[in-house]
Amino acid sequence: MHATAVAEVPVKTPVQTSIFDPSNPGFHTDFDEKPFEFNHCFTADHPMFQLPRIRQILDHPVLMHHAYYDHGPIIIGQRWQQLPERKLTSKEVFDNIDEASGWMMLRHLEKDPEYNALLEQCLNEVKLLTGRQIDEDKKSQEAIIFFTSPNRITAYHIDRECNFLMQVSGNKEMNIFDRNDRDVTPETELETFWSKDNNAGIYKPEFQDRAYVYQMRPGTGVHIPVNSPHWLKTPNNVSISFSISYQYKDSRRKHVYQANYYLRKMGLNPTPPGKSAILDNTKRAAVSLGFAGKNLIKKIKGK
Ligand SMILES: [Fe+2]
Repeated sequence: MHATAVAEVPVKTPVQTSIFDPSNPGFHTDFDEKPFEFNHCFTADHPMFQLPRIRQILDHPVLMHHAYYDHGPIIIGQRWQQLPERKLTSKEVFDNIDEASGWMMLRHLEKDPEYNALLEQCLNEVKLLTGRQIDEDKKSQEAIIFFTSPNRITAYHIDRECNFLMQVSGNKEMNIFDRNDRDVTPETELETFWSKDNNAGIYKPEFQDRAYVYQMRPGTGVHIPVNSPHWLKTPNNVSISFSISYQYKDSRRKHVYQANYYLRKMGLNPTPPGKSAILDNTKRAAVSLGFAGKNLIKKIKGK
């Protein structure tokens, strides 16, 4: 009787995480391509999301200058230059959040060591779960708390960050669109966004039915890939959300869109990124070397 060789079956060790649910396949399959919902451990009883702790941000000598807010009714397609006039201070909005119709974006919390520890822990887990080289890819990272009044809209916009938005307290509805849908986001909007205007995304109600809609509640979150347009609605509750994000070092996408912005201004109909590697590389080189206008056109026509 011959001894039977036993084939070695590799044992897959599950990734150990304490913030995100490691069984969610979205981290691997959809990361920075499509939005997906995930579970996380942050809820309203976490010490870093208690109201007195969050309010300290408004007295922090550095962070107080990064605390953006507005208040008053706005619409989904709100233009940022037409926001209602601010009549309240940031602390007045914070202390009267139930009635202020306010939206507070407490930015750059990575400058606070305690919030930075949360951000680092989150990004480490994202790195493990996605298998991406985030440390090598990122040029900057940011933690933000959003503090929002009941029945308040967060206007439609697009971002340059790769983002994980986590609901911590209260509920919130996320409406997010496929970034590759050129009816929703035409090339011209992306060209303007990457060249000169963060508010370039225009809401188109006729395509609302194409939105992925997520009902966020404490312990759930939504991944927002770079340039995926989105808007949010807080129902009849105060909402606290925590966002972790990073920007890519790689500026190739930005440079192609910037080149196309100038080409279109000169009456040409530029080829969108991703259609021709030669054109994309030429545009990237031209923009990164500082060529613009006619020099750029000459360079591209010469190819
Ligand atoms: Fe956003």
